[in-house]
Amino acid sequence: MVNNNSILSFKNISKSYGNQIILNDISLEIENGKSIAIVGQSGTGKTTFLNISGLIDTPDTGKIFYKNQDVSDFNEMERSLFRNKHIGFIFQMHYLLPQCTVIENILIPTLTNKNKSEKNASIKRAKELLDQLGMIENINKLPGQLSGGECQRTACIRALINQPELILADEPTGSLDEESATILFTELLKLNKELNTTLLLVTHSMKLAEQMDMILQLKNHKLSKN
Ligand SMILES: Nc1ncnc2c1ncn2[C@@H]1O[C@H](COP(=O)(O)OP(=O)(O)OP(=O)(O)O)[C@@H](O)[C@H]1O
Ligand SMILES: [Mg+2]
Repeated sequence: MVNNNSILSFKNISKSYGNQIILNDISLEIENGKSIAIVGQSGTGKTTFLNISGLIDTPDTGKIFYKNQDVSDFNEMERSLFRNKHIGFIFQMHYLLPQCTVIENILIPTLTNKNKSEKNASIKRAKELLDQLGMIENINKLPGQLSGGECQRTACIRALINQPELILADEPTGSLDEESATILFTELLKLNKELNTTLLLVTHSMKLAEQMDMILQLKNHKLSKN
């Protein structure tokens, strides 16, 4: 029924807020390992679509399959466990915990892991990513002591720490200067290619979108190939 090579499969997804239709009868397969850009004007529903893809929000009608598994009817607890295991989410707003340092924020998704050697591997990985993104000097700072771009880079590393199969990124480079944006974007594409991580990324930059395997445009409540 579902394409075996797809990581995410949407069947007739619709979503409205009140009487405002956002997504209308979207059916789509996201192929495993691909990098996909989602573009579209402000307010068209890109974040809504990403939230539904990441099981943060639910569609009014339609079904979602993750690698052939129907995840549409998961309860809150099942969704949250599923997200932690499979998905790295980089939000449009970074949502760092203000009382925790950079490294503590990054390690939050690993807290359910009790295994000591895996914990150490996570710390090592966090430090490598901090280094790659030019953030190692900020490791013990609080979010209030960082620039907006540095907060966003921290949130990206937090999303990558569990080596998720699927990365959902909502304008991750929107608040960064061009050089930092390029570094972060290149890092995300590298993970996509080297680790076969599927990347779904919302961006307003056609320059970035054109470097990805496919561009989907959200327009008139539908997502279609650009
Ligand atoms: N929780 C909500 N309740 C009511 N309306 C909402 C809610 N979330 C989003 N909307 C509305 O749905 C529409 C789509 O919002 P969404 O955030 O998905 O757009 P977007 O394409 O991500 O926009 P942007 O490019 O500005 O981030 C907007 O008109 C927004 O006002
Ligand atoms: Mg948005």
